[in-house]
Amino acid sequence: MKVLLLGKRGQVGWELQRSLAPLGELVALDFDSTDLNADFGRPEQLAETVLKVRPDVIVNAAAHTAVDKAESEPDFARKLNATSPGVVAEAAKQIGALMVHYSTDYVFDGSGSKPWHEDDATGPLSVYGRTKLEGEQLVAANCPRHLIFRTSWVYAARGGNFAKTMLRLAKERDRLTVIDDQFGAPTGAELLADITAHAIRTTLEDESKTGLYHLVAGGETSWHGYAKFVIEQTGEAGVELKASPSTVDAVPTSAFPTPARRPQNSRLDTSKLQSTFGLTLPHWQAGVARMLRETL
Ligand SMILES: NC(=O)c1ccc[n+]([C@@H]2O[C@H](COP(=O)([O-])OP(=O)(O)OC[C@H]3O[C@@H](n4cnc5c(N)ncnc54)[C@H](OP(=O)(O)O)[C@@H]3O)[C@@H](O)[C@H]2O)c1
Repeated sequence: MKVLLLGKRGQVGWELQRSLAPLGELVALDFDSTDLNADFGRPEQLAETVLKVRPDVIVNAAAHTAVDKAESEPDFARKLNATSPGVVAEAAKQIGALMVHYSTDYVFDGSGSKPWHEDDATGPLSVYGRTKLEGEQLVAANCPRHLIFRTSWVYAARGGNFAKTMLRLAKERDRLTVIDDQFGAPTGAELLADITAHAIRTTLEDESKTGLYHLVAGGETSWHGYAKFVIEQTGEAGVELKASPSTVDAVPTSAFPTPARRPQNSRLDTSKLQSTFGLTLPHWQAGVARMLRETL
């Protein structure tokens, strides 16, 4: 089996390089790969790459993920998040490949407090959310053999993330202020990559499993709860910090105005994924604690 991975250096792409390797021959590319074009800013050349590689499975981890920046460059965000995935999906259909793609909790408007189901009405609040929604719709329309995973609050041991920012601030300051009215589940790139590999294997054996799934770690928290957990875990690991869990102050979203609006309710219901693939999603704390142990 041959697998084409696009966006190999991102948080999820990096972990996919590990988890997809045992499936077969892996061709992993990023936007600056020289031999084959994998630049999502040049959608017209992506089909050629797919047709040259002729993979059995395409996994797209490339995206425009700079949520605030997307507000000032909507055309570029649309190219990366919608047009290019649509082109790749069309080429995937042409060669009969399974297409795997990632989307986001930002396709929802964040109202209410119930976890969102896959078929709930969408209502993105930002350019990022709108372009990601258009991307998942194009992938689904252009390639019926697809797996689309909506996830949230992604972190990885490699690269920067919210937890590492909190740690840096907790070393510099006695007190931190963190938003406590947005709710979701921090989800490890490692978990996403492992479940992707499992879902690919299962879907190749049973085509009825193609479709759209919510994929996040178990449980829920706010950014404030997430920050407190990070500081608590770090303290327990013996790392000296100026701030402590009790000096992390909770503030509303309005305290940190940003160009892009974020959904307040980012809870995603994962029962479809768990029952279809026979999986149990570990609680978010397990993955975050592990990532901290690896990076401290
Ligand atoms: N991060 C989150 O919190 C989050 C939440 C929900 C859903 N998601 C979704 O999960 C998926 C993976 O996200 P991630 O966190 O791994 O994102 P990421 O770390 O920002 O990685 C994005 C990847 O896209 C690549 N890329 C950037 N510009 C490109 C271009 N012009 N052409 C081709 N590739 C380009 C990046 O390359 P370089 O690294 O070389 O720039 C990187 O490999 C995305 O679909 C994202 O929308 C993420």
